[in-house]
Amino acid sequence: MHTQQSLPVEIAGLGSYLPERVLTNDDLAQMVDTSDEWIVPRTGIRERRIASEEQATSDLALLAGRQALERAQLDPAELDAVIVATCTADYPFPATGCLVQAGLGAVNAMAFDLEAACSGFLFGLGNACGMIGSGMARNVLVIGAEVLSRITDYTDRATCILFGDGAGAVLLRGAGTGEVVYSEMGADGSWPDILMVPAGGSRNPITHRAIDQREHYIKLQGRDVFKLAVNKLTELLERIPERTGVSLDQIKLVIPHQSNIRIIRSACERGGLDPEKAYVNIDRVGNTSAASIPIALAEAVEGGMLERGDLALLLAFGGGLTWGATLLRY
Ligand code: ACO
Repeated sequence: MHTQQSLPVEIAGLGSYLPERVLTNDDLAQMVDTSDEWIVPRTGIRERRIASEEQATSDLALLAGRQALERAQLDPAELDAVIVATCTADYPFPATGCLVQAGLGAVNAMAFDLEAACSGFLFGLGNACGMIGSGMARNVLVIGAEVLSRITDYTDRATCILFGDGAGAVLLRGAGTGEVVYSEMGADGSWPDILMVPAGGSRNPITHRAIDQREHYIKLQGRDVFKLAVNKLTELLERIPERTGVSLDQIKLVIPHQSNIRIIRSACERGGLDPEKAYVNIDRVGNTSAASIPIALAEAVEGGMLERGDLALLLAFGGGLTWGATLLRY
């Protein structure tokens, strides 16, 4: 699905949070048979952040969300909705969104979780735009937050090198000078096994057997996901100018989901985008799934790389499979 017309909606505040503990490639080399020399050229990752034992996803989400509200100078009671995009919710229920809503004191907001893996944040933005565009909401807090270290198998060198923890938040307001020019979201559920956590849901509950088989951890067919991600991101880049009349040259900054530096570079090359326009923090942060885009967006604005009036393109591809593209005027 995609928008038919642009929507006047402003990013009124941005926030992010990264846990203090740093896990370097050298640290991982003490845990599994790998090395910095193997990981950096294949992924672009040098280190990632890991939540403390006491921290759950809602704790990270709350810190990022609170910062976004403070920067927007918005009273939490004025929030209409809190959406937390995550695949590492605190519990099956209650929703992490509800825990964050309570923590913020957003007493007039509805709240829920949204699971679309690495595309979750863009799906959250799309839904927030729908709520604002229909007049149901004026202020919506969209958070991407993950503690992926809890579902990462630190005996599997092919996956444990990729993931990190963190949170990012965007306060969307149906007013001001910003606009969502175009938004597209898609899914193809015919590849469930390619990227999944096999146990912990209704099909395969957590049992001693599932734990012995390490099925409560992320399983990834890396090569297949790599190819599918590059193809879809390239397609999205090609489609943006056709659908919006905005050329890639007019876009100031592209914020791709930080999955792998080679995925980002290949998609840029094939999609006709100058790779210098792609914001990259995967070297410091790793792949934080739904948190990746809002963390990068907050950093880019803090770093002065995106100013009011600039066009930014957010791009995601991930488990589900799911994908999304949002072109916005900041
Ligand atoms: N250190 C050393 N050797 C390793 C490591 C490691 N950490 N991981 C795998 N290897 C070995 C394998 O055992 C294999 O050895 P073999 O040839 O003797 O069997 C060899 O390296 C090649 O393994 P591949 O899995 O084919 O390695 P590949 O070059 O595909 O790189 C990677 C793996 C980095 C995971 C890559 O496939 C990738 O990035 N895929 C994209 C998927 C992704 O980023 N997913 C994240 C979640 S989804 C998303 O966000 C889009």
